[in-house]
Amino acid sequence: MKATAETVGKEQKNRRIKMRFSTKSVVVTGVASGLGRAIACLLANEGAKLVLVDRAREQLEELTAILRNSGTEVGEVVGDVSEEATSRRAIALAKSQYGSIDVLINNAGINPTGAIAETDPSTWQRALDVNLKSAYLFCREAIPHMVEAGKGVIVNTASIAGQRASTAESVYGVSKAGLIMLTRTIARDYGSKGIRANAICPGVLESVMADRLTRMSPDQVAARDQRFAPTVPLGRLGTYEEIAKATLFLASEDASYVNGAQLTVDGGLTA
Ligand SMILES: NC(=O)c1ccc[n+]([C@@H]2O[C@H](COP(=O)([O-])OP(=O)(O)OC[C@H]3O[C@@H](n4cnc5c(N)ncnc54)[C@H](O)[C@@H]3O)[C@@H](O)[C@H]2O)c1
Repeated sequence: MKATAETVGKEQKNRRIKMRFSTKSVVVTGVASGLGRAIACLLANEGAKLVLVDRAREQLEELTAILRNSGTEVGEVVGDVSEEATSRRAIALAKSQYGSIDVLINNAGINPTGAIAETDPSTWQRALDVNLKSAYLFCREAIPHMVEAGKGVIVNTASIAGQRASTAESVYGVSKAGLIMLTRTIARDYGSKGIRANAICPGVLESVMADRLTRMSPDQVAARDQRFAPTVPLGRLGTYEEIAKATLFLASEDASYVNGAQLTVDGGLTA
């Protein structure tokens, strides 16, 4: 199954597809590009009702239009995920439009680079706000509704950079390690209320994150790919679609006994 907007709808007609999310209300952040977009398309293919959040208005509206045309119910929220108002609007929209928040996927992120002495305080704070505080804010808004319903699922997009130190990714790694622990505390505190929380930890992907692309030339990206691919036991970098599929597994009833886990999806890079 290809996770592109173009395949949405066509895939729904494919009778072999499991519809694990039909009637489920799913809030996803960071959907305007990359992994979030792939997650949103796969969820649409499996019948989810979506609230999509991103700060990139144009790309968000384009995706929303494609998904609506394919018959998916979609609400959209344009905003900065590190601001409380954005999480309030998104969760309130899901509740008013669909009556529940069944799944929350905190995926938005940025990827500042540099060792600690090269990281200025504003970069440090911004990374923690976008990559970690945002997930706290969205969870804080969603969890009371999930507790009331007696069920709910949270998936946070972390990274292998949050599991072990990566060169020159200091604050990024710190933010993702924090996100993993946020996930685990939720799993422990709210498992008894029927809520599952898990983190997904992608390795090195074929596609460099959008904000990092602004600092890297195509030649630098190609050099990065050539450097990393041979170090992965599977011999290649991962795709957004592969990570999105693993995310949907955690979000679905297929993972009904998975709680507080870190699902590493890195082709064996950190094995
Ligand atoms: N690409 C990789 O190699 C890789 C590896 C491991 C983990 N990840 C994680 O996967 C997630 C998605 O990464 P991606 O590769 O798709 O990156 P991306 O840059 O393509 O997408 C990130 C999305 O988040 C949105 N976003 C960023 N800051 C925001 C903010 N403050 N408010 C609202 N929206 C905001 C962007 O507009 C964009 O749509 C991130 O959390 C990232 O850390 C990516």
